[in-house]
Amino acid sequence: MSDESGESAVRRDRFSGGPARGFLSSLAGDARIFAADLAVDRAHVVMLAEQGIVDDDVAGEILAALDEVEAAGHGALTEGEDVHEAIETAVIERMGPEGGRMHTARSRNDEVATCLRWRLREDLLDAAETTLRLRDVLVDAATDHTETVMPGYTHLQPAQPTTVAHYLLSYESNVARDTGRLLDSYARVNESPLGAAAFAGTPFDVDRERTAELLGFDGLVENAMDAASSRDFLLEATSALATHAVTLSGIAEDFVLYANRGYVDLADDYSSTSSIMPQKKNPDTLELVRSVAGEAAGDLSALLTTLKGLPRAYNRDLQNAHPHAFDAVESVVAATEVTAGAVATATWDETTLEAAAGEGFSTATGVADLLAMAGLPFRTAHEIVARAAAAAEERAAAAAEERAAAAADGTTATSGGDTPDLATLDSVTEETLGESLFDHVSREAVERALDPAQSVASRDSVGGPAPDAVASALASAEETLDADAATVDARRAALADAEDALETEVARYV
Ligand code: ARG
Repeated sequence: MSDESGESAVRRDRFSGGPARGFLSSLAGDARIFAADLAVDRAHVVMLAEQGIVDDDVAGEILAALDEVEAAGHGALTEGEDVHEAIETAVIERMGPEGGRMHTARSRNDEVATCLRWRLREDLLDAAETTLRLRDVLVDAATDHTETVMPGYTHLQPAQPTTVAHYLLSYESNVARDTGRLLDSYARVNESPLGAAAFAGTPFDVDRERTAELLGFDGLVENAMDAASSRDFLLEATSALATHAVTLSGIAEDFVLYANRGYVDLADDYSSTSSIMPQKKNPDTLELVRSVAGEAAGDLSALLTTLKGLPRAYNRDLQNAHPHAFDAVESVVAATEVTAGAVATATWDETTLEAAAGEGFSTATGVADLLAMAGLPFRTAHEIVARAAAAAEERAAAAAEERAAAAADGTTATSGGDTPDLATLDSVTEETLGESLFDHVSREAVERALDPAQSVASRDSVGGPAPDAVASALASAEETLDADAATVDARRAALADAEDALETEVARYV
């Protein structure tokens, strides 16, 4: 600061940090907001010139110096405890004390808040865009598998047969809400705090609307104290990211489990092997995706606890808050990209899935539904099917014992599954009602209900797995996906337009 005289230089020398210098500094991490700070500086200087607060020629010199600072890059910054101070110092080094006019009518407090929002809105659009890609591959895979039956689970026990398409679309709609949350948070991130100064406004005749417009913000965070100190926009964005990471962890967990059961085969690109066991193909990428939920939850928790109980207005704790949000952006966006790649390249084993789909008497509910549709109270139907299931289970256990004994003495034994046959269902119905099963339903209808594919086809209520129901779900998923893609494109275009407009304004002075 040799070329700067007066109180400011004296105070900077006195408060240069001493042994705490490194602890105080955010300069390294501020690389993420280097471009943001240059944009904020440019918009601010243009506004100062337009308002007659700074002469046009001084504005031109500052703006030219900023171009040089940009060309030199963040790594060339040395002096200053953060990127804001370092860029100002670099400008003053290039043009002398007049460069210090750049910081008229603002503070690092409104400056950093503006930079964070400027950067985070891009990050949110990137995050939203990766969710679109994931939804796209989920829809594509679902389109290929509307007839591929698979077991559906509750409590990780075989429950009812469904289809791969129905399963995949269950995540598509979940991810669609994640996209929605990211885009909702964008609306509150994209407001300008610039012009709030330290927290108490400024006597200079600043035009806050103008800097907001030059920076592509949709409006102002009006109250200056709120603008300089609130960080709920970080919480909201990080919460949306952490929520999405939880969705991803569910997809990852299922794929790890389904790979274990031979239902799905992951592409080699998304698998790893073992350094000792040569035969191994492990779903490591998806295990890492699963872990990102922990990381993002940690980021959210760190943010919440850092911000909790902070007094108004600015406190330096805030410098340690936003890195958690940016960490969540990085890990969650990477996890989404990898998940999309893994889903797009995975292959589903239709034969294994079909065999598994009927295991554990998964069609039981369908049989009970059939009896209830024929007029029995559902509870009675449930009881009949439950008893038949118990009888079949006993028979399956006896058959297994017989098989073991037969294997021991080299004879063959009869086999028995745990799904009841028509005779069992009929005799249990006799015991329960004193009437034959076939007084109520036809043999063919029971046979259909016991068949996994036909069981699936019968469940055609809205949102159900029947291929018809899935076809209309697919159509509406594609529609929502297109609409969300258009929203992301429109926002990107608005930001690009603002950047062009700012460049044009800057060019008037340089
Ligand atoms: N680097 C700081 C931050 O990230 C901004 C500086 C404001 N500093 C201050 N002492 N008021 O929050």
